[in-house]
Amino acid sequence: MALINRKIGYDEVETRDLVFNMDRSKVCKYWFNNDPWNTLFMSGVLAAVPDGERWVMQSVRKQLDMLSDPAIRKAGIEFIHQERIHAREHDVMNKASIEHGIPMDDIEKPFKKVRVFLQKHLSINMQGALGAAFEHFTATIASVLIEHPETFKDTNPELLGMLFWHFVEETEHKSVSFDVCTDAAGGGFRAYLLRVTAMTSAAAAGAAVFAAPFTYLLYKDRQLTNFASAKNFFRTQFVDPGVLRKVGSMFFPYYRRDFHPWDDDNREVIHAWKREFNRSGDTTKAFYALCDWLAVNRSTDTSELKLVPNSAAS
Ligand SMILES: [Fe+2]
Ligand SMILES: [Fe+2]
Repeated sequence: MALINRKIGYDEVETRDLVFNMDRSKVCKYWFNNDPWNTLFMSGVLAAVPDGERWVMQSVRKQLDMLSDPAIRKAGIEFIHQERIHAREHDVMNKASIEHGIPMDDIEKPFKKVRVFLQKHLSINMQGALGAAFEHFTATIASVLIEHPETFKDTNPELLGMLFWHFVEETEHKSVSFDVCTDAAGGGFRAYLLRVTAMTSAAAAGAAVFAAPFTYLLYKDRQLTNFASAKNFFRTQFVDPGVLRKVGSMFFPYYRRDFHPWDDDNREVIHAWKREFNRSGDTTKAFYALCDWLAVNRSTDTSELKLVPNSAAS
């Protein structure tokens, strides 16, 4: 059954097999602006990323033969390639943080056990719908940060090259698992019911995935009483740019019958990154090209980012 709500974006999804080698020389202990709370929050999320991406990828792979729309199937294959490479590169980055003494491996292990249990007991359509829900959160986080690179004003530029490559590709494929799970479930009310049930479950699990590892990492790193860093964290997440606030505001639209991930059409933003990447093949240059585009078109103040020493951008 063709999807009635499929709109745009399939031609955006493109595999880029890039190797970043994000070792300790590029990933310092508090890589997010030298700020413990923001770094440890992101570390808690990133601990679940490689295994989570492999889960979503495997769900889409199992659903490929259930699809009736060849365009969705083609995008699904590109999606699998993209997520495989994201998982590989984030494994390397996570290893660097673990070497700095951030016990992300303590989080990866139980997450993997839960994933294996769910893979064993949930239907493939429910796994696909859970994947679509998590992809909605990922795309929302990417959409905020991609428009606010100034959030990372004191972060290694090569690491920013990698993170923004991931944000761009999460944006490119933001509708793929949604459309795969809708098409595989046959569309209509049954598919709608499946995706909103999955979203409710994913939101509850997601809150735990955000909160518990974060608290654990703060505790292990003796940062629970670092109030100056806590203030930075709450500003970043709820005020400027307000990442979690935006995630909250994008939650309820997902329950609309006619919701589609490309309702938020931010293709022109990722095109600014893609134009430079297609020209130079350099993710750090592409990052700075995006900053320049935002400064001109959105009046975003990216001037502080230019102060970071950066040979790749010169
Ligand atoms: Fe990804
Ligand atoms: Fe993704």
